[in-house]
Amino acid sequence: MNDIILAALNFVKEFFANDFSGHDYDHTLRVYKMALEIASNYDVDEFVISLAALLHDVDDHKISALTNKNKANAVGFMKQNKVNEKIIGEVIKIIDEVSFKGYDTIIPSTLEGKIVQDADRLDAIGAIGIARAFTYGGSNKRKMYDAQDIPNLNMNEEEYFNHVSTTINHFYEKLLLLKDMMNTEVAKEIALKRHQFMKSFLDEFYAEWDGER
Ligand code: ADP
Ligand code: NI
Repeated sequence: MNDIILAALNFVKEFFANDFSGHDYDHTLRVYKMALEIASNYDVDEFVISLAALLHDVDDHKISALTNKNKANAVGFMKQNKVNEKIIGEVIKIIDEVSFKGYDTIIPSTLEGKIVQDADRLDAIGAIGIARAFTYGGSNKRKMYDAQDIPNLNMNEEEYFNHVSTTINHFYEKLLLLKDMMNTEVAKEIALKRHQFMKSFLDEFYAEWDGER
């Protein structure tokens, strides 16, 4: 394996060691592996994809609000490891373009970006996606569910980042929307299966909530 990728794996392992908000090292590792799996179907720059996948959450606004704008953690790592300026630019652009921002979400401008975005989103849905959502909810002191609290389906970037609601609402505000936002064919197929699993989970959740046996 390339030395810089190995260094990036070690860097994120340490960086996320104390994260219990759904952004742990295993999330980053899954995104990295999934991105490379999707990438194997295309003629793309795997080095750029690997770096972008591994560094995609180190300046996430939920984890590092101070460096979210300038991506200082990702840039700092790459400079220290002598990654060339052109590649640093490409990686930072991808990291900037992948995140979900309500109706301000964008489609990445490069195929490398589209692949990293798909890999990140696939990890937000299905069984692991459900587990991550409740982990995030708990670590942010959110209620699981409140029938009086209606999901807000039409938020811009600022509203999406600032509003506080239940974890079940997060399914309607983001998770159930992701299947139709995948960029690559492989991801669309995986997403469909994971989407259906989330729907069954929700049906079962409401049935139990309503006291069904
Ligand atoms: P990602 O790392 O996949 O880009 P985010 O940074 O948006 O995702 O969030 C990390 C995890 O926390 C995801 O699994 C996401 O679904 C979950 N999450 C984010 N916001 C909420 C929320 N308001 N309620 C419950 N879970 C959330
Ligand atoms: Ni992520």
